[in-house]
Amino acid sequence: MSNTPTTHNGLLSWVEEMMALCTPDDVQWCDGSQEEWNRLTESLVAQGTFIRLNPSKRPNSFLARSQTSDVARVEDRTFICVKRPDEAGPTNRWADPAEMKAILKEKFRGSMKGRTMYVIPFCMGPLDSPLAKIGVEITDSAYVVVNMRIMCHMGTHVLQRLENEAAGTVEKKRDGHGCFIPCAHTVGLPLSPGQADSPWPCNDEKYICHFPDTREIWSYGSGYGGNALLGKKCLALRIASNIAREHKWMAEHMLITGLHAPDGEVTYVAAAFPSACGKTNMAMLVPPEQYVAQGWKTSIVGDDIAWLWPHEDGKLHAINPETGFFGVAPGTSYDTNSIAMDSMKENSIFTNVALTDDGDVWWEGMTKEAPAHLIDWTGQDWTPGCGRTAAHANARFTAPASQCPTIDPNWQNPDGVPIDAIIFGGRRATTMPLVFQAFNWGHGVYLGATMGSEMTAAAAGTIGKVRRDPMAMLPFCGYNMGAYFGHWLEMRRYLRHLPRFFHVNWFRKNAEGKYLWPGFGENMRVLEWIVRRCKGEAAGHETQIGWTPSFEDFQVEGLPGFTEEQFHACMAFDRHEWKTELVSQAEFFIELYDHLPKELLFQRELLAARLV
Ligand code: OXD
Ligand code: MN
Repeated sequence: MSNTPTTHNGLLSWVEEMMALCTPDDVQWCDGSQEEWNRLTESLVAQGTFIRLNPSKRPNSFLARSQTSDVARVEDRTFICVKRPDEAGPTNRWADPAEMKAILKEKFRGSMKGRTMYVIPFCMGPLDSPLAKIGVEITDSAYVVVNMRIMCHMGTHVLQRLENEAAGTVEKKRDGHGCFIPCAHTVGLPLSPGQADSPWPCNDEKYICHFPDTREIWSYGSGYGGNALLGKKCLALRIASNIAREHKWMAEHMLITGLHAPDGEVTYVAAAFPSACGKTNMAMLVPPEQYVAQGWKTSIVGDDIAWLWPHEDGKLHAINPETGFFGVAPGTSYDTNSIAMDSMKENSIFTNVALTDDGDVWWEGMTKEAPAHLIDWTGQDWTPGCGRTAAHANARFTAPASQCPTIDPNWQNPDGVPIDAIIFGGRRATTMPLVFQAFNWGHGVYLGATMGSEMTAAAAGTIGKVRRDPMAMLPFCGYNMGAYFGHWLEMRRYLRHLPRFFHVNWFRKNAEGKYLWPGFGENMRVLEWIVRRCKGEAAGHETQIGWTPSFEDFQVEGLPGFTEEQFHACMAFDRHEWKTELVSQAEFFIELYDHLPKELLFQRELLAARLV
């Protein structure tokens, strides 16, 4: 074994076991250093996986193009492996742990032949946070190593913390000090002697497997995003949601943002939105000019995942377990999200975007006019009007959060930030008003449990149908969704100061199919009402569905043409639409009936009663 192995016996024996199984040619323990990044990025360039971008345009940044078959998370190959199917629940794919382990052992056997096995000690969350979790990923992908270096704390300091904890701990308890979460990853393409490697090795067959009972992750066959960067969705959501349930905290698919009022007071909010609902834009919101002039500003703690726990001060606190952004590139521009654009100016990795003739990156929506010539994400010449998109729709940037100009001063505070509001939302053309506030915690949980988006590019017959995505956790909750709702309801008991719950919808349309709300930075106007509600400063109207603002509660200067009628159109309540909503919620609840807390059924009944 090259490099220095660890003094942590548990880790050493796991790595030895994985070496014996995967039979790599070499093993490298990652230290997370700049020297290691330089060496690995250079080797990725030499191998054809990376193209170094023009250093005068995008210093220390790289472009990778994946295989066309390996471009996104594979939900239909993602498994929760627990003893009984009902523990995984109807929204997950279940597999028997022993059977799946046997399959994986055969898949992993010899899978790293001809390759290097990298050992990545990583920590999700600030190293000294009470919630931080240490994982160790073994992988045969250097692309994974360099992405992990951006996305989480990794390397020698993490290993040292693990070793120190293990040395000082006599009894090793699950999830306790000195323990790590083993994360095994292989691209599943062993090389025979002399066989040329592919720039993006992967396997047509894929398995993304979670073993909540033994706290393990095994991922086979994909090199892409959440399938391969195992700290993110696999650990920080699917496994962490199980740990959180057991230890009375919450692992959520939420952004965390700070809203700074002119008097300097900061209100932190956590928000959950299904994919393609502008979550990153909200996390990085730039307030309209008039707000800036008044002294408002925003800061970001996290754009994707929040770990929340009842702090001893009685409030719900949150940390972002990640240190980077793995954002969708298409649609991101200086107009839509200047903060994201500034965050990826250097030291970033781009996957499946287009390459410009001067060695920079481009994607649909980045500029109003496309460049006259590009190399597209598949490596072919591209010109405007050629009939193909230049970047893949799920093309990504991996950028260090520390480069974000609005990063919150507390983003690495081990104590987290106190959360005053929890916001749920979806993409709804009808029914849901721009904003409303839940009556209480139980009602708020009900709003999260029933949230969803209308399907857009889906199979015929489903367009316009609401896809329920509770708390945006549908693909990420590592256990039975009904039990997860029960956990949410229970968490109220451990808090003395409860955050307020809100539901927002930026996507309501008029009869002509036009958006009613201008969106983007203007969302600050809605957030201001939320902040003032949290502080007890803004009025609200009690309606059938919750508390709502009136036109007078909204700042509309600087929003030309936004009239009181338009506001009422955004906020309108339509009894007929809500009846349809209730029927569709009932269908969803029936799916989850076994483990669904009765309190949510009663919330639905109460809403029905208020509609008459
Ligand atoms: C993501 C997702 O990539 O939620 O963050 O799909
Ligand atoms: Mn996400």
